[in-house]
Amino acid sequence: MTGLPIPRWLRAGKPGWTTSADVIVVGSGIAGLTCALRLRGQVDKVLLVTKTVLSAGSTEWAQGGIAAALDPEDSPEDHLHDTLVAGAGLCDEEAVRVLVTEGPQRVRELVDLGARFDRAPGGDILLTREGGHHRDRIAHAGGDATGAEISRALIEALDRVAQDPGIEVIEHALVVDLLQDESDRVCGVTLHVIGEGAQDGVGAAYGRAVVLATGGLGQIYASTTNPPVATGDGMAAALRAGARLTDLEFVQFHPTVMYLGDGAHGQQPLISEAVRGEGAVLVDDAGVRFMQGVHPMADLAPRDVVARAIVARMRDTGARHVWLDARHLGQEFLARRFPSIVARSRELGFDPATQLIPVAPAQHYASGGVWTDLNGRSTLDGLYACGETACTGVHGANRLASNSLLEGLVFADRIAEDIARRLAAGELPPSAPARRRGSEAVGLLDERLRGEVQRAMTDGSGPVRSAESTAHTQQVLGALLAHDELPAVTTGAWETSNLAHLGLALTAAAHAREETRGGHERADFPTQDDPHWLGHLSHVRAGGDLHLTYRPGKGFPR
Ligand code: SIN
Repeated sequence: MTGLPIPRWLRAGKPGWTTSADVIVVGSGIAGLTCALRLRGQVDKVLLVTKTVLSAGSTEWAQGGIAAALDPEDSPEDHLHDTLVAGAGLCDEEAVRVLVTEGPQRVRELVDLGARFDRAPGGDILLTREGGHHRDRIAHAGGDATGAEISRALIEALDRVAQDPGIEVIEHALVVDLLQDESDRVCGVTLHVIGEGAQDGVGAAYGRAVVLATGGLGQIYASTTNPPVATGDGMAAALRAGARLTDLEFVQFHPTVMYLGDGAHGQQPLISEAVRGEGAVLVDDAGVRFMQGVHPMADLAPRDVVARAIVARMRDTGARHVWLDARHLGQEFLARRFPSIVARSRELGFDPATQLIPVAPAQHYASGGVWTDLNGRSTLDGLYACGETACTGVHGANRLASNSLLEGLVFADRIAEDIARRLAAGELPPSAPARRRGSEAVGLLDERLRGEVQRAMTDGSGPVRSAESTAHTQQVLGALLAHDELPAVTTGAWETSNLAHLGLALTAAAHAREETRGGHERADFPTQDDPHWLGHLSHVRAGGDLHLTYRPGKGFPR
């Protein structure tokens, strides 16, 4: 299916400097930091590069928490069950089993490293519940600032080894493209650094393995809970280099993002699902609770179910949003349990203790990404992907709440083990990038077109799609990418190009999947269609074009 042209390279200046390491880790969220810290000491040199500053990624913004079967009454088997149900038939059971069985130990190690989770007076880690979980299994920190605490603990652990010559950190470094040797093995990255001295401007970093942990692609839409850095840089570079990307159409729209008006743009305030976990409920303009009867778990149904019900309610009533009612939880409890949400809501003019909060779904998470095996290996030798950048198979069509931090933690550990083992065995020997072939396409989109990309994606590949809307979006993006002007080479242009390349791939998959499942809702195919669509769509760039393939069957395409 499809034959959409995607360039191999983004236009960029010739590298003016080089550096090398055994392993290059790109990204500094929970996945990248964990991977770099685990690799340090196991290989001679790790290079960690991050786009702005270490704490700027999505991990910092995670509110709810990290899911793990830590309660003696709970079990990995129960966690597995809830994850598979949320994934709407498309999770890879083996990958989920890895996640839920290794997860509790990885969380304990995070505690040993210095992460301070909220605790009961007796000292046990407090656990709460979020949508799709049948048990209290979400560990949280600072009430609703779990990601910030995990980020703090990991960055402090990195600071403690800052003098170690075995680890180097480069901030303000945007990875542009992947370098490959004659056999297509990934052997480094090109990157642009806003620095001083030797490492400034475009450079090349060579490594025996590259780990992409650049987070998600939320900025592809007009509004998202993701921070500004989430422009899908790692996924897009992998796509251009020929790695397989899977399940891109399964975008998670978080049900309760504060609605700030139709013109609101960029990162929007999230109201954690944990607020509903503690008893808040959704109501419409008439004050009617509408989740009861939609799903046995009502307001705590899996995220896709709640988001779809909100969209339906908005459509039926003509409203631009619904409301979250947390008033009965009380001033004191709300301020203690959700200090960041309460503070932000008040800043924006709403007091959750006395007022309803206007909420509507907005982009939150990419369940698909760079296909990997259970050790984080992509389809390109030498290339690994981790966290939101990866598609390990654990999320299927819809990620279960608070499984994302856990996925980053568990698979970062596996990747570090795998790379250390391979390098010790002499695998992935150092190699040089192949000379660029003149026939390889180079492209770049003007940064001023970002708004058009976001509009096209929001209108055509947003929470509700159709054959018509996705065809129109493909047409708009195709036309933008086909222009042959030479825009200024800027960070904004690289990011805009990444958004457009991923947007085209995502939309092609959303167009092809003629059913509604998990995060993918089609107005023209409103039901789940297992006989035709219980399977995975994957993209690979080959011969200059993007190729979309469908692999039927419950299993993940291994
Ligand atoms: C939330 O706190 O609602 C978000 C948690 C998640 O994305 O898993």
